[in-house]
Amino acid sequence: MSTDMIARTRAVEFPWATDGQVAFLDHASTGPLPTRARRAIESFGLRRAEPFRLKAEDLFPVLARTRAEAAQLLGAPAGSIALSTNTSHGVNLAARTLPYGKGDIVLSTDGEFPANVYPWMAACRERGAEFRMLPLAGHLPDEEALLRAITSDPRVKGVAISWVSYWSGHRFDLNALSAACRARGIWLFVDAIQGVGAVELDLAITHIDMLACGAQKWLLSPWGTGFTYVHPSRVQALEPAEVGWLAQRRDTDFRSLLDYDATWHDDARRFEVVTLDFVNFAAMAESLSLFNELGVPRTAEAVRHLANHALLFADANPSVALITPREMARRAGVLAFRVADLDGTSKRLREANVFHAVREGCIRLAPHWYNTVADLDRALNLLIARN
Ligand SMILES: Cc1ncc(COP(=O)(O)O)c(C=O)c1O
Repeated sequence: MSTDMIARTRAVEFPWATDGQVAFLDHASTGPLPTRARRAIESFGLRRAEPFRLKAEDLFPVLARTRAEAAQLLGAPAGSIALSTNTSHGVNLAARTLPYGKGDIVLSTDGEFPANVYPWMAACRERGAEFRMLPLAGHLPDEEALLRAITSDPRVKGVAISWVSYWSGHRFDLNALSAACRARGIWLFVDAIQGVGAVELDLAITHIDMLACGAQKWLLSPWGTGFTYVHPSRVQALEPAEVGWLAQRRDTDFRSLLDYDATWHDDARRFEVVTLDFVNFAAMAESLSLFNELGVPRTAEAVRHLANHALLFADANPSVALITPREMARRAGVLAFRVADLDGTSKRLREANVFHAVREGCIRLAPHWYNTVADLDRALNLLIARN
């Protein structure tokens, strides 16, 4: 039943994926836009080109709807979501607003995507703090060492990690990490762009202080869209580092803007820097509605099914080494393979219209819920083919 629904949705929302021309398995780079998001861009974009066709209710309510869809996806209150243009915006927000200072340590691990490294390096340098990246164990983050460092070093004031690694596909146990941070009274920041949309996350259960997520990959949304979640207990305690002109409570009457009142919104809108691209956020709302309609348990199950298939393939074919953890709770949608001839294999995949990426010496396949086993097999069989 569930598979039927996915197949029907694939035909409606991704019609190009049904004719066998391409196998698009690169959602860890840029996700495609579903039909409903494309339609939103076309219709809203036309009106944007001739703004006299736009009504007031076409604008700010779009942002409210996008926040609500993102909140629903993550089990979070809408007031905890600030829309932002990319993941980096949220990383910078975290690095510049969360509490730590001179002599403190912000912990992370080696192997992080640069978007979650440079802002911390810069902010720690400014504050006289240390951004410490713990060595990997083999090619994966050493979660035990991270937990030990959290509990044993009183100088550690926060942890900043990517939930899912962009290259190995390793997924952190956020519940264990969150529990360790809370026990020590320190904060947890998560770059979630490679996980949200691929696997479940319920922020009502998992306590995260701040989470940044671009929507352009697994959330199948336009470039320049994303959001930052701020835990409700932190929203009013944090001073925005960048100040938007609509981050204040007195925002609604545009006829008189000059009675300045720098009182922040009570909710996470205080962290938004408006004007945002209403057209693209309208499309993001459409894309998120697709996840919310299907239900994340269903879409995540489809991603797991494909990953399990890849695991069995790797077991049967020792010439390809899957470096993504085998344990289901330790992976999401990113699958990384070491092959003997990296460039030759990538070329073969490209020639067969199999969209993939090469990252850190691996072939990265990133299938999403609407992909089929046939899409994945087309890629897997080329990993073992000989020139
Ligand atoms: C873990 C991770 N963080 C961040 C990004 C991108 O950041 P941004 O949305 O700011 O471009 C990527 C991928 O490009 C990523 O894999």
